Amino acid sequence: MSKTATPLTQLSAWKALESHAESIKPKHLRELFAVDPERGTRLAVDAEGIYFDYSKHRITDETIKLLLQLAEESGLKSHIEAMFTGEKINITENRAVLHTALRAPKSAKVLVDGEDVVPEVHKVLDAMAAFSDRIRSGEWKGFTGKPIKNVINIGIGGSDLGPVMAYEALKHYSQRNLTFRFVSNIDGTDFAEATIDLDPEETLFIIASKTFTTLETMTNAHTARSWTLAKLKDEKAIAKHFVAVSTAEKEVTKFGIDTANMFGFWDWVGGRYSMDSAIGLSTMLAIGPDNFKKLLAGFHSMDQHFRNTSFDKNLPVLMGLLTVWYADFFDAQTVAVLPYDQYLKRFPAYLQQLTMESNGKHVTLSGAKVNYETGPIFWGEPGTNGQHSFYQLIHQGTHLIPCDFIGFAKTLNPLGEHHDFLMANVFAQAEALAFGKTAEEVAAEGTAADLVPHRVFEGNRPSSTLLLENLTPEALGKLVALYEHSVFVQGIIWQIDSFDQWGVELGKVLAKKIIGELEKNGEGLKHDASTNELITRYLKLKK
Ligand code: F6P
Repeated sequence: MSKTATPLTQLSAWKALESHAESIKPKHLRELFAVDPERGTRLAVDAEGIYFDYSKHRITDETIKLLLQLAEESGLKSHIEAMFTGEKINITENRAVLHTALRAPKSAKVLVDGEDVVPEVHKVLDAMAAFSDRIRSGEWKGFTGKPIKNVINIGIGGSDLGPVMAYEALKHYSQRNLTFRFVSNIDGTDFAEATIDLDPEETLFIIASKTFTTLETMTNAHTARSWTLAKLKDEKAIAKHFVAVSTAEKEVTKFGIDTANMFGFWDWVGGRYSMDSAIGLSTMLAIGPDNFKKLLAGFHSMDQHFRNTSFDKNLPVLMGLLTVWYADFFDAQTVAVLPYDQYLKRFPAYLQQLTMESNGKHVTLSGAKVNYETGPIFWGEPGTNGQHSFYQLIHQGTHLIPCDFIGFAKTLNPLGEHHDFLMANVFAQAEALAFGKTAEEVAAEGTAADLVPHRVFEGNRPSSTLLLENLTPEALGKLVALYEHSVFVQGIIWQIDSFDQWGVELGKVLAKKIIGELEKNGEGLKHDASTNELITRYLKLKK
């Protein structure tokens, strides 16, 4: 990535999009479909087992042409190659960005500083598989000789959200005699509730932390150690009940976990891009090494698609460009992700870190303040639950909220007519958002005149629909990689570093300082008047 790229707003495609957007804004999706019914099948891509319908967007062929031109002018193609080939594109941390190497087949070669990283990746995967087999079969015994029945992943951010999401998403494939819990919050309630009914003799902790210094994770890890030793009363028990997943061997040793029980990864894997590294150990324990391989295969095939497919048929490219379109030309502040599958209930939460920690940036690679919007807010809930809470605002509120609907043709739990009812709702919501209901239509139903405005649906509210056959490990890998690469596309267009996260630092530093002050009972507080007062009251109240 060049620090001296032409500023985004000076690219000719950007300028053309600005005036083009003005011509699109007055157009209604009703009109766009009426004059061009074929758009419903033309503005869609069927690739990698994902049918991506983007026809219900406020776009024409011209919009796509200009967005694709924007991608070209931004040098997207060479940036993709730079990422895949291990260039240090995370410039503020001087690191390569190679989550794609985590799912590369054994035969691939990916060089970082002249060294092929693929053999190391597979070595760790093999070690994870051997360990998983021992736990899943009951061969691995706890300190008192009992097999492991409970696995608790302790981690936060990328060391938690991916594992939780994947566990929930793939629960159908999980070994049901193992219980999985996830502790992330520094709030002691998280640990207390996760362990309240568990026996330390049968419990394995995975301490997952790239840096092994994160306050939340280390605090929970120390509590877990005390909880284990309170019952097992022998330091030697730690080797049987604790494993670490980290890039920081020294820190792991310092904590007291034998590096023989450590599964490593590398600084070129960002936390929010790490669920397919050893950070996915809990996923592998739950679904088994073979299913984990299928998950990786799904990721890899989306990687190949992203790298090799022309942009006009490229799922992450189209998806990323549409996000840019609304954020920058329609002032859309958010994107709603609405999976119609209960197993994907943590998918929006997972995407929040992926998208917002990546693209929540306000300076370009050269450090200049941007004069356009960057990463929108991602949020969502599984359907149909959301329909009975926030969809009102999406349909009739004043905000424009592009939506991603995600649905599967086959259910993993066929129960009566549930699945058809579920999917009918996906199609109905996207249709209602796009086409709405006019005042004439409402009045024709005999609605009292004073109620007509309340019952009108303006429509013209955009959405994508992603339709897949079945929620398999492979499909999940493809979906996650799709969003990962879409985030990449957005970051390239916005000329930002999608792979650093300096915005989380200040709060961490201040919290550390305040911890010291709390220990000294608030002596000599030198914050602003508000913070001083809050700390003082807290100390008084807790007495
Ligand atoms: O504070 C943000 C962050 O650095 C994330 O990027 C990361 O996923 C999370 O903290 C956890 O970090 P670690 O895995 O090093 O404990």
